[in-house]
Formats: sequence, structure tokens, C-alpha cells
Amino acid sequence: MASPDSPLLRALRGDRPERPPVWFMRQAGRSLPEYRELRVGTRMLDACLTPELAAEITLQPIRRHGVDAGIFFSDIVVPLRLAGIAVEIEPGRGPVFADPVRTADDVARVTAIDPADVAAAATPIREAVGLVTAELGDTPLIGFAGAPFTLAAYLVEGGPSKEHLRARGMMHADPESWHRLAGWLALVSRAFLDAQIAGGASAVQLFDSWAGSLSIADYRAFVAPHSAQALGGIIVPRIHFGVGTGALLPDMRLGGIADAVGVDWRTPLDEAASALGPDTTVQGNIDPALLGAPWPVLAAHVDDVIARGRAARAHILNLGHGVPPDTDPAVLTRIVARAHGDVE
Ligand code: CP3
Repeated sequence: MASPDSPLLRALRGDRPERPPVWFMRQAGRSLPEYRELRVGTRMLDACLTPELAAEITLQPIRRHGVDAGIFFSDIVVPLRLAGIAVEIEPGRGPVFADPVRTADDVARVTAIDPADVAAAATPIREAVGLVTAELGDTPLIGFAGAPFTLAAYLVEGGPSKEHLRARGMMHADPESWHRLAGWLALVSRAFLDAQIAGGASAVQLFDSWAGSLSIADYRAFVAPHSAQALGGIIVPRIHFGVGTGALLPDMRLGGIADAVGVDWRTPLDEAASALGPDTTVQGNIDPALLGAPWPVLAAHVDDVIARGRAARAHILNLGHGVPPDTDPAVLTRIVARAHGDVE
């Protein structure tokens, strides 16, 4: 079991370890040659639902980089697959749904699926997480799920989109269907989180990656209550993350449900800390674009992020969004070493 004194869990409690804990969103995946090798011939969602494979992929970056936490290898659309919805992840593109959910009838069809079916079908998730946590010892594993809005952005559109017009449109064209869909997605993501917690995850992160496309008013009226429902009453610490959400940061605390809020590279962490106040840990926010810069440039940026993070009650070092697939993994290892005070 993870140690409650591990740097990540301390930082999530608002305690400040001497060095900030560090992990990376998308630390598992295509930046690692050992991942690319394991994935040959296996579709993404099949890999996610094969416990030994998902566990091994989760462990790869922890062994290689010495990060302070694992993030479970899976995807935000896995619980929708477990619900029986036809979804595939197209390489280089993202999640694609055979039957987009656009009309009131579509919403009624999908929300008729009992979220308890997702919990029942989540055995491979519990198993994979159990295999990982048995290996990890003191190091915590972070479980995750997609927030209702970010899932809806794919499900309503049928695939990736830039401004998520159809999902945002449904909020105003048919608010009743929107709330029914988002409320159902909250329960489905919650079942996915609960399976990971049952398997031994020590913390969870809710990804609302595309919340930055929303106005503050729409975020409050149509989105935050459902995200709060997905995270409410969970017994492990909670991180809430979005991209382009500088204006939404205070709302992303969800009234204190979130122990930490993830910040993208656009908002300096000292500004984020003052927006979030004294009761919230900040996570972030190395600019992924700088991962290819000469080391002295990147190192100075990392130091600046760490220095600004001191304005918050506690800081978890991470990127402002996921690891780009073409990242040199040696650079990530070097960032971890620097955050830990080991070298250069
Ligand atoms: O290491 C980790 O962070 C854990 C694994 C993880 C994946 N997806 C694996 C994955 C996590 C936390 C996610 C969450 C996820 N999935 C989000 C939220 C995080 C974010 O980046 O904003 C979103 C929006 C998705 C939807 C999704 N799945 C996209 C946009 C893509 C990329 C498509 C592509 O090929 O560029 C995926 C596929 C995906 N999820 C991959 C991985 C490793 C790549 C698939 C592959 O390796 O073949």
C-alpha cells in the first residue's frame, strides 16, 4: 500500500515536502520505446482491458523515470466501452463513436444503460490496478476518469472536435437532455473511479481537458455540478484538471471537493495559487512545448515553475498538459532528477 507519507499524498493534504513530488500526464505511452513495442498488434482499448498489459504499461514510466506517482494506463472512454457503447480509439486521432448522441432520443437510449453495469464489467480494471499497486509498494497510483463535459465533447460530436460546438449547443437547445446525459456520464465515470480505488489507487484525477472552451456562466450552470457529482464523497484525495481553464480555476475547486487543481502552461502558478486560495494544492505546469528546448532553457523554466509553485499551500510538479508522443524520454528523467535535487 502507498505510504501516507509519500510526497504526493503529503502535497495533496496541503503539507509541503522539501521537494515537490513530480509525475507527468501521459507518462505512459508513445514517448516510451518499451510501450510502442508492447502495443504492436493490440488495439488501444484492448490493451486497456487486458490486465497484465495495462499493469505493465502503467509501471514502465515509474521504473524508467523515478516519478513520485503512477497514473493508471487506461483511457477516459474505457467506461463507455464497458457500458456497451461502440467506441474505438483511432491512432493519431482519438476516440470515435459509431453512433453520436445528438438528439433527445439518443440521450434516452444511452442513459437507459444502468451505470451499475459498468461497475459489474469493470473487473479487468480492478484486476489491473491490483497488479500495479502490488508492485508499487510505497509509491502511490493515481486513478482517473474523464469529466462529464469532456466525455460529452466526444460522445455528442462522435469524435474529436475543436470547439465542441455540438455538446455546448445541446446545453442551450435542450437543457433537459444535456443534464440527463451529463448526470449519467458522472455516474459512469464514478463507477470507473470506484473500480480503481477498489483496486488500490491512492488518489484520483478528473480530466476535464476541454472545459476551457466553456464560458464561466455555462461552466457553472451546465458542467460544475456534474463534475462535483463524479468526485463527491470519494475517500481518496482528488485532483481536478483542465486545459485553457485560467478563468475557471476558482470554480474548478468545486467548492473544496478538489484537493488539488491542475493548471496548464498559460497561467503562472503564483497567479493560479492566488486565484485558488489557501486551501488548494496546485499541480503543473511545465510547458510541453519546451521539452525539446536546449537543456539550460528547459531547466530554467522548470526552476521557475517550482519557484512559483511555492506561492501555493503545496505544489505537485507536472506538465501543463500530456507528454507529446515525440518527446525524448531522457528529458523527462532529467526533469525528475532536477525536481528531486539530484543533479545539475
Ligand atoms: O499516462 C497516462 O497519462 C495514462 C493514460 C491516459 C491515456 N489517456 C492513454 C492514451 C490518460 C490519463 C488518458 C486520458 C485521456 N484520453 C484524455 C484526458 C487527458 C488529456 O490528454 O487531455 C483525453 C482527452 C483522452 C482521449 C484520447 N485518447 C485522445 C485525445 C487520444 C490521442 C489520440 C492519438 O493517437 O493521438 C487518446 C488515445 C490514447 N490514450 C493514447 C494513450 C497512450 C494513444 C494511443 C496509442 O498509443 O495508440
